Amino acid sequence: MTQSLEELEKFSIPRTASFWGDDDTGACIHVAKSRNSATVYLFGAQPIMWQPDEQADVLWISDAAEFDLHTPIRGGIPVCWPWFGSHPAHPEWPSHGIARTATWTLDAIERIETDVVLRLSLPVRESDAKFWPHLSRPTITYTVGDTFCIELATTNIDPHPICFSQALHTYFSVSDIESIRIDGLEKAPFTDKLTGRKEPPADAPITIAAETDRIYHRPQEPIRLHDPGFSRTITIAHKGATSAVVWNPWSEKSASMGDMGEPDAYRGMVCIETGNVPPDDVILAPGETHTITTSISVAVAAE
Ligand code: BG6
Repeated sequence: MTQSLEELEKFSIPRTASFWGDDDTGACIHVAKSRNSATVYLFGAQPIMWQPDEQADVLWISDAAEFDLHTPIRGGIPVCWPWFGSHPAHPEWPSHGIARTATWTLDAIERIETDVVLRLSLPVRESDAKFWPHLSRPTITYTVGDTFCIELATTNIDPHPICFSQALHTYFSVSDIESIRIDGLEKAPFTDKLTGRKEPPADAPITIAAETDRIYHRPQEPIRLHDPGFSRTITIAHKGATSAVVWNPWSEKSASMGDMGEPDAYRGMVCIETGNVPPDDVILAPGETHTITTSISVAVAAE
């Protein structure tokens, strides 16, 4: 059962955590603190905004994103689970799994020192049985503070092993795609999804000037996104991730997608996703828990 705004009210914290939304868009949690704020939709458990003090938005959200409780929201941090991309055996199944189009349950909001912690879980839905006939469901914890920390945990409560892939599909807002530099992945071999070829480590930072869709294997830590136009460096620290995906659809693919907004909107975003992407799926024995943690922080950089 999805929670009504009245039911969610019991989690509110005066001047810190409140709820918005209606029956068409579903509810979202808004965290507002003196130094930073965040908005997380229960649909997809999807953050669409995190803004630390005096920074331009860190997350990119499309002007044409749909909030209709059905279409995946284009932007923010979609949670891809229990598969990433096309399902290997059923390409006709929803891209990136069932979690980003499910309304999650808010279990708790806590204030821990200066941070606000949101705990959500993915409920069992009858409509998912065809796609994921297991009881095991993930929980996600967002810690909103000077860093934005995401913890996606899956515990196998089934009596048999389960196998899944996943990603925190973070859309970062950038000043201009051609002026950014990503480092931290130069030692990782990658699969280029556009050619299907496995490539050796590039031994150089990543710059982007065309459609890019790459899965980096065994990424180093942390990954850094340098953006001289916004005078900032975003640091993506991660644990438990065996893959990192770098994606920008560029002009032609954006035009075919329908929810990217203005024709040049792709220039203002880049996805850097951490996860466990095929062939590095997670195989989890009964009773075990797998967790990926990604922490995003921003530093002003003079470049
Ligand atoms: C990326 C994939 O993670 O997500 C791309 O590597 C894909 O191949 C992109 O196009 C967006 O996927 P979707 O399903 O949100 O359009």
